[in-house]
Amino acid sequence: MKAPGDSLLSSPVLRRRVAELGKDISRRYQDKPLTVIGLMNGSIFFLVDLVRRLPIETQVECWRVQSYAGRASSGVLKGLEHCQAELKGRHAIIVDDILDTGLTLDAVQQHVRDLGAESVEICVLLRKKRRRTVKIRPRWVGFDIPDRFVVGYGLDDDGKYRGLNSIRALD
Ligand code: IMP
Ligand code: MG
Repeated sequence: MKAPGDSLLSSPVLRRRVAELGKDISRRYQDKPLTVIGLMNGSIFFLVDLVRRLPIETQVECWRVQSYAGRASSGVLKGLEHCQAELKGRHAIIVDDILDTGLTLDAVQQHVRDLGAESVEICVLLRKKRRRTVKIRPRWVGFDIPDRFVVGYGLDDDGKYRGLNSIRALD
């Protein structure tokens, strides 16, 4: 397969940054009950690589939510009603691939609070530079990137290119 678009973040660069994030997260949650919630499908690679870098007791949940239709946000988040976890007395980190409009993380964050988590933080691999519909403050951001459509390392273009080891920009 010919790699699409141009390279933005190489595989070694991603690996190094994920290791740093893991270190920082572990330090903060030492001896605290932690649940990491990965939003599927986009965060699948990031979630796995990150959790491997957490040398602390961690529970992992995968939630499937959808807001994108093709290359644009549809403005509605689907699937949250099926997302459940026992979070009472636990600290939660929501892990997602990319912060774009903020709609997804805003709704998921509220849902995690409603489930009774002791604390809720957000960790995104990428944060797009753009005007956001809702204000979201992730505690951890892997990389700030320009407002371009990106694929690879879990991110897809209508199902394509999710399996690339690096992140590439298409437009
Ligand atoms: P938000 O709700 O607009 O912040 O959208 C977040 C979701 O949209 C992400 O979890 C991605 O699945 C998807 N998304 C946003 N921008 C991109 C992109 O550039 N490439 C691939 N998926 C994207
Ligand atoms: Mg996603």
